Amino acid sequence: MRRPMVAGNWKMHGSRGENARLVEELIGGLPPAASADCVVCPPFVYLQEVGRMLRDSPIALGAQDTCAEPQGAFTGEISAGMLKDIGCKYVIVGHSERRLIFRESDQLVARKFAAAHAKALIPILCVGEQLADREANRTEEVIARQLDVVLELCGPDVLGQGVVAYEPVWAIGTGRNATPQQAQDAHAFIRARIAARDARIAAETRILYGGSVKAGNAAELFAMPDVDGGLVGGASLKADEFLAIIAAAR
Ligand code: PGA
Repeated sequence: MRRPMVAGNWKMHGSRGENARLVEELIGGLPPAASADCVVCPPFVYLQEVGRMLRDSPIALGAQDTCAEPQGAFTGEISAGMLKDIGCKYVIVGHSERRLIFRESDQLVARKFAAAHAKALIPILCVGEQLADREANRTEEVIARQLDVVLELCGPDVLGQGVVAYEPVWAIGTGRNATPQQAQDAHAFIRARIAARDARIAAETRILYGGSVKAGNAAELFAMPDVDGGLVGGASLKADEFLAIIAAAR
């Protein structure tokens, strides 16, 4: 049985005041026994403070990125060990904004995945095609390439201890979500790709959908058999929206 999960990626948003309000509303609004694992991923500088606010709550703390190196002369970088040290449970790796704006390669993303796993963090691996890929019928080719690099480096066992997020780039921040069927097709493809290496692990691996998830479309997306929850950007910054998305994941 795969337990549903909803993770909020705050990206580069928030302030100490806004974060405190948002977290307070989230904790206050969560049902006592939420049927999904809930995660928020604030910017690095706010992780510790938000982590303190989340203490004794069912919401887990995640980071948005990690360095692939364990330590050393890497000015400006943050290691997986540091994230673990301050209480993170999850870390997003390979978000399309990192891949596209900051030119992160598939290999670097795979090394970040391995670095996170090595420090007992749960990596959330983002994969997904750009609009041009989809229009050229290359969606599966792109996802396979992004996934295979991690499978090669880490193996299916380690991959399955993480989480995969299918995030079509054309759906991120655009208000244009994938249809439930488009999401299901991609998720089924990802699961089959993992199953080709290990069917049991594939059946247990959580695959989240991300890209313009909102209160109004979460239920129909999460109803698809291979969609195990969501990675939510914009809508995770509004407590009522995010709570409704969590409620839709059961
Ligand atoms: P969005 O972002 O929900 O704002 O589309 C999703 C993401 O980038 O993870």
